[in-house]
Amino acid sequence: MYQRVKYDFNQELTKIKDAGLFKEERLILTSQKPGIYVSFPAAAKAREVLNFCSNNYLGLANHPELIQAAHQALDQYGFGLASVRFICGTQDLHKKLEDKISKFYHTEDTILYSSCYDANGGLFEGLLGTEDAIITDALNHASIIDGIRLCKAKRFIYEHSDMRSLETALKKAREGMDIWDGPGLAKEPVPARNIIIATDGVFSMDGDIADLKHIIELANTYDALVMVDDSHATGFLGRTGRGSIEYNDMLGKVDIITSTLGKAMGGASGGFTSGHREIIEILRQKSRPYLFSNTLAPAIAAAGIAAFDLLERSDDLRRQLMENTMTFRQEMGRLGFDINEGSHPIVPILLRKFSNDAQLAQLLSRDLYAEGIYVVGFFFPVVPRGQSRIRVQISAAHSKEHIERAIAAFAKVGRKHGII
Ligand SMILES: Cc1ncc(COP(=O)(O)O)c(C=O)c1O
Repeated sequence: MYQRVKYDFNQELTKIKDAGLFKEERLILTSQKPGIYVSFPAAAKAREVLNFCSNNYLGLANHPELIQAAHQALDQYGFGLASVRFICGTQDLHKKLEDKISKFYHTEDTILYSSCYDANGGLFEGLLGTEDAIITDALNHASIIDGIRLCKAKRFIYEHSDMRSLETALKKAREGMDIWDGPGLAKEPVPARNIIIATDGVFSMDGDIADLKHIIELANTYDALVMVDDSHATGFLGRTGRGSIEYNDMLGKVDIITSTLGKAMGGASGGFTSGHREIIEILRQKSRPYLFSNTLAPAIAAAGIAAFDLLERSDDLRRQLMENTMTFRQEMGRLGFDINEGSHPIVPILLRKFSNDAQLAQLLSRDLYAEGIYVVGFFFPVVPRGQSRIRVQISAAHSKEHIERAIAAFAKVGRKHGII
């Protein structure tokens, strides 16, 4: 049997390769930090490159305080709990981390997941049914899209960050939607019972920040709840690192916040949903990734607590990240690279002015790698056709010299390919 299936799978793999979309992983032989040893292709001799493509925004992936907290938790709480939370997988550590996150975001309660993918995947189905509606930004992360797919609520997609399009969707949901739930005649269109507007706080391809002020105004007008995934903002965006919600001056006004511990907050794994008490309680009762997947490892929970403690104590890493980001953005702009204005450490170097943008993205990332700068090119279907780019991600752990080396390499490679 497998011979035939094997043939089909190989055909599929060939198609992916022929389309130039085959993803090859680079082997990192060190911890995650700015200067990493990478072996690529896998058998090649390892070499040192500067990493400009991780989500290690605050440099906590290798921070001594987090490592020490994880070590201590290993000694005191063991390696794992071999259980989901509600059977015998809840330690005081998990409750402590949940409380910390609630205090951080000024919310009533928080529930932990193994990842933000799970937090988003397990969010909508338990809260909404066929009579309800979800209104979702067209560029929301895959995990929000998948979470919505698992839910029976009616889905409306609004154009990316377009408040008119969001309002049109809200009107439609409020005026009446077709509800079709099983055999028999379709019912008359009826207004949605409950509505959730779902948005990324920061969109990962462009580093653009959702206009939460406007979204919340519309939500109030049309009596909807607002859900924000702040994975690319928790810990560093906003005056005290409370993310896109603080950046938009909307702390305390978002109903549901999801985010990850797998980026700025240590970079291992773990996610959470934070918000109103009843919503979190329903998730504890009904959310499938919470009920049917193992609890977060104690070492990760302890390091998560240490990460939030560190941010409470000092603003230094956040400030350093912002300084590095602005230096990089200003210098790249001055050199003539096409970058959208902004202040987020995701800095896309856009190739939209070139007809061979997809090919250029690959050539540039290859040549930059040869110059010792590790960045990734994104092209269709990861981004729309004609929108290829190199996505650079800045970290607080980058030194001034790292930033200067990256800029010099971009200048050299950019000139070689006639981009600047
Ligand atoms: C916006 C957004 N949400 C969720 C996730 C998933 O996070 P995690 O790695 O914790 O599953 C990501 C990760 O890429 C993301 O960018």
